[in-house]
Amino acid sequence: MEIRDKVVFITGASAGIGLATVREFAAAGAKLALVARSADVLNHLAKELQNQGIEAVAISADVSDPRQVQRAIEETVLHFGRLDVIINNVGQAVVGKVADLNLNDFRKIFELNVLGAVAAMQSAIPVMRRQGGGLIINISSVVSKMHIAGLGAYAATKAALNMISDTARDELASDHIRVITVYPRSTATDFGKNALGAHEQQQGSSSPKDTPEMVAKRILIAALDEPDEQYMDQ
Ligand SMILES: NC(=O)c1ccc[n+]([C@@H]2O[C@H](COP(=O)([O-])OP(=O)(O)OC[C@H]3O[C@@H](n4cnc5c(N)ncnc54)[C@H](OP(=O)(O)O)[C@@H]3O)[C@@H](O)[C@H]2O)c1
Repeated sequence: MEIRDKVVFITGASAGIGLATVREFAAAGAKLALVARSADVLNHLAKELQNQGIEAVAISADVSDPRQVQRAIEETVLHFGRLDVIINNVGQAVVGKVADLNLNDFRKIFELNVLGAVAAMQSAIPVMRRQGGGLIINISSVVSKMHIAGLGAYAATKAALNMISDTARDELASDHIRVITVYPRSTATDFGKNALGAHEQQQGSSSPKDTPEMVAKRILIAALDEPDEQYMDQ
């Protein structure tokens, strides 16, 4: 999809991969709906973009609450009058082996990583259908294709998201709504620090391969080329 002047809704826009993706899409001429919980950070970012002549709106929302996600989509459509792309980028990990995994933490990240993305898709799809098409980009992880001790619950949420994406891609093809899954690998953000659970288990993990800017470039390439799946080494 050509990105110039398109309305792009992105979750987790205040930091890490999401923030880098905001800047990448802004440089490509997108109009941006910035979603995360930190209202101050988002307002500051929206002002910064507006000062550069880029249309942007800050929408504070907790993506683990489907009603807040629906409101965020509605605010986007109200503000810009349309919606072309949603990027379900927000995500959190829980660290813990299956034997002693905290089930409340598992439930929490499932609600955020899976149900949050589905809620955004469910709110965006009717709008995209009315407009004759659109693009849904779900940010998964290469971990969803592996089994790494201590990361089973996180990998399971991303594997569930992959399956939702694959199914929705078929279901929405006749509506001209494309669904793309992006698979980042280890990336230098605060993601590890923000993980729920036993952080000491992560100490030995290998150093990140990618910067958030490298991932953001791949997400933009995916939006332009519309493959089913986008990996970092493609
Ligand atoms: N970093 C990696 O190594 C890596 C590797 C593979 C895949 N990924 C995936 O890439 C995506 C982005 O990760 P990242 O590394 O950029 O993470 P991050 O640095 O931890 O950033 C997370 C972003 O999500 C927002 N957020 C967190 N909880 C939220 C909630 N309940 N509601 C709304 N916003 C929320 C945060 O902002 P607020 O705190 O302001 O809400 C922040 O903007 C995730 O889906 C992750 O699973 C990351």
